[in-house]
This record gives sequence, structure tokens and C-alpha cells, in this order.
Amino acid sequence: MNPKHVSPCRSYENAYNRSAFILCAFAVLFLFPFAGFTANAQSNPAMIRFDENTKVFRIDTSKTTYVLGINENQQVQSLYWGARLADGDHFAAAKAMPGHSSFDLPVTTTPHEYVGWGGGLYVEPDLKITFPDGNRDLALKYVSHKINGDELDILMKDISLEVYVTLQYKADGETGIIRRSAEIENRTNEQFTIEQAFSATWNLPRGTDYRLRYLSGRWGAEWNVQQQPVQPGKTVLESRRGTTGHQNNPWFAIDREGSNDSEHGSVWFGALGWSGSWEITVEQDTLQQVRISGGPNSFDFGYRLQKGEHFQTPYFYGGYSSEGIGGASRLLHRFEIDSILPHAPHPALRPVLYNSWEATEFNVDEAGQMALAEKAASIGVERFVMDDGWFGQRKDDHAGLGDWYVNPQKFPHGLKPLIDKVHSLGMDFGLWVEPEMVNPDSDLYRKHLDWVLNFSGRPRTEARNQLVLNLARPDVREYVFNVLDKLLNENDIAFLKWDYNRNWSEPGWPAVAPEDEKKVYVDFIRNYYSILAELREKHPKIEIESCSGGGGRVDLGVLRLTDEVWTSDNTDAFDRLLIQNGFTYAYTPGVMMAWVTDSPTWVNHRTLSLEYRFLSSMQGSLGIGANLNKWTPEDFDTAKKMVAQYKGIRETVQRGSLYRLITPENNSEQSVTESVSRDGHQAVVFAFLHSSTELYPFPRLYLRGLDAKAVYRIDAMDSRLAPDTPAEASGAYWMEHGVDVELRGDFQAAAFTLERKN
Ligand code: GLA
Repeated sequence: MNPKHVSPCRSYENAYNRSAFILCAFAVLFLFPFAGFTANAQSNPAMIRFDENTKVFRIDTSKTTYVLGINENQQVQSLYWGARLADGDHFAAAKAMPGHSSFDLPVTTTPHEYVGWGGGLYVEPDLKITFPDGNRDLALKYVSHKINGDELDILMKDISLEVYVTLQYKADGETGIIRRSAEIENRTNEQFTIEQAFSATWNLPRGTDYRLRYLSGRWGAEWNVQQQPVQPGKTVLESRRGTTGHQNNPWFAIDREGSNDSEHGSVWFGALGWSGSWEITVEQDTLQQVRISGGPNSFDFGYRLQKGEHFQTPYFYGGYSSEGIGGASRLLHRFEIDSILPHAPHPALRPVLYNSWEATEFNVDEAGQMALAEKAASIGVERFVMDDGWFGQRKDDHAGLGDWYVNPQKFPHGLKPLIDKVHSLGMDFGLWVEPEMVNPDSDLYRKHLDWVLNFSGRPRTEARNQLVLNLARPDVREYVFNVLDKLLNENDIAFLKWDYNRNWSEPGWPAVAPEDEKKVYVDFIRNYYSILAELREKHPKIEIESCSGGGGRVDLGVLRLTDEVWTSDNTDAFDRLLIQNGFTYAYTPGVMMAWVTDSPTWVNHRTLSLEYRFLSSMQGSLGIGANLNKWTPEDFDTAKKMVAQYKGIRETVQRGSLYRLITPENNSEQSVTESVSRDGHQAVVFAFLHSSTELYPFPRLYLRGLDAKAVYRIDAMDSRLAPDTPAEASGAYWMEHGVDVELRGDFQAAAFTLERKN
């Protein structure tokens, strides 16, 4: 979202569009016949067409079609979003909806792709501006468009003011996911203030049988899947916290008729790529039209745009699946791996890591960390991460944040001896940082009282004894970047766990003009992203984890710049089943860090076997967070075996297709997932039993995603398969006849793999 000066020579020539269309159509018809689609993203380009006569745009991907048109009022109107239509299917020109009595005018009843607040609009606007003369009316009309391969730009302009908005679409041919955003340009001769700048509105086919799924939570309990019917009125999912937040995640999925079949039926879904305060509204209007709008939160929003500047909104991604919520998740996972993550479409597999936090908390020192590192290496850990406590005067959470020098009492020779030791054990080294925060008890705060978010003369509310640095300030941005750059220059660090342990309060920025203080909501996040991007550019081998007291900063914005995320501070392996289940509705298990920690757990004092804890964590990216000093020789043997097993399945778990065979939602007694590798050669099943009652056997498991005709060999990773299970059988057998696992009692777990033979 960088304001920059607008180039005067943007070309939106329709002649160019026509020739681009002819070339594109030629390429699609002759070079990429539809029958020849493969799993390769390159061979599945999206096709965008424009019909000059009807003024209809059509975006086709391998399985979806998205259609919009310019109506008689020159508004950009949604026409269709759903399963792929036949090439010859024809759309009539868009026609604005009639109003409904004198109370609901056509501007309100028409399903706009993007609409300014003005002219009697009562549904959620995408854009609201206050002009210096007090005018707040904005009526955007189509001007021109540009098609470039899989991208479509539609230029709109206010009826009288030189306010331009470019609606930007980019379609992914393979998954059908469309990336949308808007660029707002001030070509007037004065400044104006944007009070709401959403990225897009998505419109669903008219209907009253929709069900919304979204994610809610709190610290230690993120990723709860919620369901509710879409009813007249508006549901707002949001964060007003300056960050993504644990409480709602910027993701939604909407299906029809409340079907509980996770693999069939239409699902529309979307996710915002924004790590600041955000908002998604789901609104059913008076004529039963459902629209979903989203972008930076409009609450307390204000962005003054000077003459000649422009404002780019975050990306809002939307997709459609005809294969139920399971299919929707798999499309998102695939898209994240192929198009979002750093190094996409080939992001590195996650190494097995060890993290010291739960073992030592703040009591880190050279000898203690070295001892843990030796033990971690002995079970096959590949990355050793030292958590909080290594810097400044950090003895507990009261002091030190902001002072990023190595604590000389704990590490008298700096970090080098520890890092060398970790390397000598065959692991790489990672370090915890929380760069956007400061403890009032720190040298940094004593020197720069004005660097934190605050309103002049008002209290500065502390949380975990810390304040938030105002990263929107150029000097703070420079300080934070330099601290991290120096750390990486001076130490051989492969990985940063970047934490963020509170949300905002008193979000003022007294150093700028009062009219610009609210820019903090945008400029902070922009600087956060730019630091991540610059660090990655200067240190191309660095990997970064996004953490915020667990899963408080996970979204498609930060995932473009980080390799993995910390799912939750709740590491109880049973609680994690529900947490991880919710996480995977929106995000790939390939970034979902899951540690094996001690038992009984600090979370709820529950006791679980080490095998159970491993199997729970092996559903994501495996880490160990236990105090290895307390482990028995048998624990080490078990861990060594299970880490080795994980390495044999991790590509399938991290990159494969996920099927939720039984979800742990609604207090289900079981939880079962299956992952099928991308090449279809391996499937991995994890099965968990909470508690068995009345001698009922564990439900038979009917696998999915296999080739019915291929033969697969089954391999129990433990000895829980029913004795009469054949060693080999067809995909049809495993999917139709199913597999029995023998789980009885409380907190039991099993896992098995299927390997394709032919
Ligand atoms: C947060 C993180 C934890 C740990 C602590 C350290 O709570 O989520 O994993 O790093 O901070 O203070």
C-alpha cells in the first residue's frame, strides 16, 4: 500500500484489449486444449475475455467461471461466480437491478463489484471519501479496461471529480482463486481523506439458504470453526487491534443448504491478505442478495491522500469449490503453496525443530542451551531455536524488549559458541525476537519515550509489561531493520521466530499532523512488510516464523513474507486436534507449527502418551518443545523413531491434499485426517480417540483421494490396524470397504500409511 505519484501515461486502449483477447483465445484454443489440463500450474492459464457488444467480462479457470459486466449506468456489476461454464454460454449485458419502492434505490439493490458511498447507497460501501469542501458523495463509473494474460484492470472514475479507482483482478488458472484489490488515485488538485478503502466486494447468487463458516478464538484457543445461517442483516468479522488477531481470522467460507457433507456442494470462500486491523462484512440485503466486502477496518480509518498520490488496498482472495468445504480448503492450501509462500511454487519443506521456550522459559544460558541442543540432535532434530530471554536485561517479561544485545551474563562470549555447537551437531540455528515491542524498563524506552504508540497526554496502557513501538515512524522502522540486519550479519542465523505479544492501545502518532495520525493503521503494516521483505532480500537464506502469542498473526499478507506460523501457545496435544482442525480450513498444514511438549501439560494438566503427542504434532510441521532434560531413555527411543517416521511422510503432510475424515468439532469422540501426496503415491492417516463408550468400535475409515484402480500397500506406523486388514488392496478397496483401526480407551492415537505400488 505505497502511496506514490501516478504515472500520467497509463494506457487503457480498447484496441489493445481486442488484440490481447484474440491472441489469448488463440493460445487457449490451440495450445491449451481443455481436455489436456494437468496438475501443472503453468499449463492451466486463466482466460479473460471481454465481449464488446454486451460489455461483459468473463474469467475462466480450470474449474470456475467469474463474470461481470458494465451496466447501463456504467457501473461494474457482478453476473456470475461459480462452477466452470461451457465456452459457448452467453451472457446478456448487465442490467442494474430495479429499486424497491422509494426506500431502496437501484444503487443499493444492484450487486456492484466495487461501489463508492454516495447517491443513496445503504449497503456496505467499498470506498468512502471526504473531500475538502465537505462533499462526501462518490459515484464511480466505468472508464476503460486492460486485459493482460491472467490479469484484468478496470478503471473507474467519479462522475465529476478526478478520483480514479482501478479494480484489479488476477486469476489463478489452476485453483480458480481470484486475487482482487483496488488502487485509488487522487488526480484532483487537492488532498482528500479516505475513510473506508475496501479491496473488493464478492456477490453470491441470489439465495436464502447460505451458511457462513468463520474462525473465532482467543489466546490459547485459536481457530474455532463457527457456523451460522446468512440471514437478513450484516455479520462483521473484524480486528480493531492493529493486527490480525486471535479473535477472528480474515477468512470466510459460505456454502448452501447447510450440507454436512464436507466433500460435496458449492462453497465460496475468501481470505484477506492484511496483517493490520481488518474487516469482512457478510450482508444479505433486503432483496436477498448476499455480498461479502472486505479490506482494512473502516473503524477509526482515515488516510489523507495528497494530490497525485495513490492508495493500493490489500489483496482479497476469493475462490469457489464444488467439492464442499474440504475442496475449498484444499484449493486454498494449494494456492498458498504455489502462489503465496516465499519461494512459491517450491517453498522448502519445514525442518524438524526444537524450541527451548517450554523447557527453560526466560532462563536461557550457554551451557543449558548446549545441553538441550545435544539431546535434540540425538533424536533427529534439524533446527535448534533459542526462544525468549537471551537479550538485554531479560530475566522475565518485565524488562529488556527493545535492547537487542546479547545478555553478557547468560552468554559471556556472545552467541557464537552456541551457534557453532548447534552447527557441529548437524542442525541450523534459530532465534526468537519481538522487534515491534518495548518494555518501559529498557534502555530503548528510556532514550525514546516518543517512539511508542500514544496520544499526547493520555495513559499508555501496558500489556505483558510492554508497549508497542510505532513502526509507522521512519526512525523506528530504521531502528528495527538495523537491529535485525546486524543480528543476521553478525551471527549465522537460519531462522527468526518473530513474535508480537500484545495488541494496540491508544494508537496515536503525535509527531505527525493530526489529520495524518490515523495513517498509522496502514503505514505500520506497510513498514512491517517492508522490513520482512528487505531482510529476506539481504539475507536470502533466512526463514521466518510469524508468531503472536500463538496464532495471532496469521493471514495471507504475512504468509507472503514468512515461511511458517506458530499455531497456538496451547500445546496440549488433545486441545491441538481442534485447534489444528480449524487452522486447516484456511491455511496449509505445511506452515502449521506443532510442538511435542511435556506431559502433564501446563495448559490443563492432562497426561498423554508420548506417541499420542507425536502423532498430534505430526499432522502439521513437527517441532519438539519439551524439556529434554527430563526425558527417559525410552522417551528418546520413541522420539527418535517417530521423528524418522515423520521425515518419511512430511512431504505428504506439508504439501499434500488434506481430507478431514472425521472432524473433532462438536465434541466428537474421534478426529481423523488423511493426507494424500501430490503425486498420489502416498497417503497418511492419523486417527485419534477421545474416549470410547459402551464398547463401540472405532468408526471404519473410508479413505479418499486415491486412484481406485491402483494397488496400495498399507503400513501401520504402530500396531493398531485390525488383524484382518489386507497388506495390499486397490484404492477402491481402501475407499469403499475402508480400514478398521483398533482404538479403545481414553486418548488413544494411531497412524498408518498407504504406498502406491503401480
Ligand atoms: C509468546 C510465544 C511463545 C513464546 C513466548 C516468549 O507467547 O507464543 O511461544 O515465544 O512468547 O515470551
